[in-house]
Amino acid sequence: VTLFEISTPELTARVLDYGATVQALLVTDQDGKTVDVVLGHDTIEGYETHDGYLGACVGRVANRIGGAEFTLNGKMYPLAKNDGQNHLHGGLRGFDKYVWDAEILEDGVKFSRVSPDMEEGYPGNLAVSVTYRVENGALVIMYDAKSDRDTLCNLTNHSYFNLAGGGTALAHELRINAESFTENDENCLPTGRLIPVAGTPFDFRAAKPVGRDIGADDGQLAIGHGYDHNFALSGRDAAELYSPESGVAMNITTDMPGVQLYTANFLERIPGKRGALMEPHGAVCLETQEFPDAVHHADFPSPVLRAGAAYHRETELTFDVR
Ligand code: BGC
Repeated sequence: VTLFEISTPELTARVLDYGATVQALLVTDQDGKTVDVVLGHDTIEGYETHDGYLGACVGRVANRIGGAEFTLNGKMYPLAKNDGQNHLHGGLRGFDKYVWDAEILEDGVKFSRVSPDMEEGYPGNLAVSVTYRVENGALVIMYDAKSDRDTLCNLTNHSYFNLAGGGTALAHELRINAESFTENDENCLPTGRLIPVAGTPFDFRAAKPVGRDIGADDGQLAIGHGYDHNFALSGRDAAELYSPESGVAMNITTDMPGVQLYTANFLERIPGKRGALMEPHGAVCLETQEFPDAVHHADFPSPVLRAGAAYHRETELTFDVR
């Protein structure tokens, strides 16, 4: 396993070929101090044994598939039930648990692998790559894939952001460019209904602290012990996270239709990087994605990737200090 460092004066990204993982993102805060704004592990064993997907590329299909099966072209494909009766984040051994091939670029690294036909139950040999480039203060993530059979594809990066470099993330201010979010059932699967955010704890149209409404008496928040929901994005400008403590801001743009806000509700209290104990709500995940369980909802954007078609998605994380 190899760690690659991509650096500009504004941003250093450390990425691993194991899981095409973002292991560290180093920026300078308002006091001139270097802060690492993502959680992770110091050892490869940490990544192998922990199932929090810290910083990893998640695939072939990120998020949940209800009943751990889907039907495509009239054929039923059973998948692993690794989240109760449902399928989560690509299955028992998802893209996060493989060593990818690496190609060094002038300003980044391109990780590739071929996910073989029927790997974790998904049809089609899928040639997939994730490219990380650093442009000034921005980490540009490019996802590309092509399959030789019709399949499903939904790739994301599962970074846990803490823009203060530690402690709780509940004081982080968050804005999400979304008018609605997908309602969850008791298993965190979309019911199919889109709920307008107006007048709910899910209204992040104007920036507010992540923790302001997280304890509100709200059925949706009770299900996942905090936010664990997909927001239907209104445009490329997806979200912005800011830590008043460090002054570090992160802006997210993407061409994906959704973003999962997950407030690390189930993060285990185990040591992460530099021995610092991780804790629930100690980070915010903003996973740009197709809508969860989209294969079972005809009115969600389709997660189907047709044979020979090019899957290309981009997410850009831009850091600055205010
Ligand atoms: C999911 C959570 C899950 C977490 C870790 C998130 O993307 O939405 O429900 O607990 O990943 O697996």
